[in-house]
Amino acid sequence: MQITASNWPYPRWVAHRGAGKLAPENTLAAFRLGAQHGYRMFECDVKLSADGVPFLLHDDTLERTSTGKGLGGDHAWGALAQLDAGSWHSRNYAGESIATLDNIAAYCLRNSYFLNIEIKPTPGVERLTGEAVAHHASRLWRGQAVPPLLSSFSTESLEGAKAAQPALPRGLLLDELWDGWLEAALELGCVAIICNHTLWNTETVARVKAAGLRTSSYTVNDAESVQRLLDLGTDGIITDRVDLFSPAN
Ligand code: G3P
Ligand code: MG
Repeated sequence: MQITASNWPYPRWVAHRGAGKLAPENTLAAFRLGAQHGYRMFECDVKLSADGVPFLLHDDTLERTSTGKGLGGDHAWGALAQLDAGSWHSRNYAGESIATLDNIAAYCLRNSYFLNIEIKPTPGVERLTGEAVAHHASRLWRGQAVPPLLSSFSTESLEGAKAAQPALPRGLLLDELWDGWLEAALELGCVAIICNHTLWNTETVARVKAAGLRTSSYTVNDAESVQRLLDLGTDGIITDRVDLFSPAN
C-alpha cells in the first residue's frame, strides 16, 4: 500500500537503535530486547559495506561499537561479519554480530514488526546509499502490506531513495530548521518530518500538519518531553528508554 499521512500505519512508539542503550545498538540482540519491552517498531541506522551490502552502524567508523577499525564503509561484508559488535557494551553481549538489513528484515517480517530505516551514508556515497537501501528494502518487503519507513538527514540519500523506489515512504530528519526545510521535504515526496524533539512547537507542528505531513521526534528520553509532544499533537516518538515508556500508552 502507498503510505500517506492519512493512512499512516505506524505505531507512535519507536525503539531507537533497537533498544536504546540497554543492549548494543543496531544489533539483532537490541531488537529482541526492545520487543521484550513491548515495542513493535524500531529505528536503525543503515549504510553500505564496500561491496554494497546494507548493514547496521550508526557512526561512520567502527571503533565505538565494534572490534573493527576505520570507516565501516571501507570494509567488505565478509570482514565486517567477523567483528564483535557486542563486547563494547557488556559481557552479556560478547560475540554479537553486526546485523545486515537482511537479518533485521527477517526478524521484523516474521514477527510483524514495523521498521524505520535511517539511511546513514558513509560521507561521499549519499545518493548511492539511498538508492541501494531503497532497492534492498523494496525487495525484502515485496508483497507486504506495510513497507519500512525510510528516513535520512541527507537530502541526497532521500533523492536517491525516491528515484530508486518512489513508492517507499520517506521522512526527512532535522536536527535544525535549515532554510527551506519544509519545501525540501515536499520536493522529496516525504510523508513525515522527524525532528529533534526540541524543534517542535505550536508553529512548527501547525506548518507541517498544514503541509499534509506526519510529525515525529527523536530521541525522547524523559516524561516531561513526552507529555509536551503529546500535548502538541505530534505523532511519533523515538526513544532510548524502552524500559521507562510502555508503547501501549
Ligand atoms: O532516526 C532518528 C535518530 O536516530 C537520528 O539520530 O544520530 O541517533 O541516528 P541518530
Ligand atoms: Mg538513527
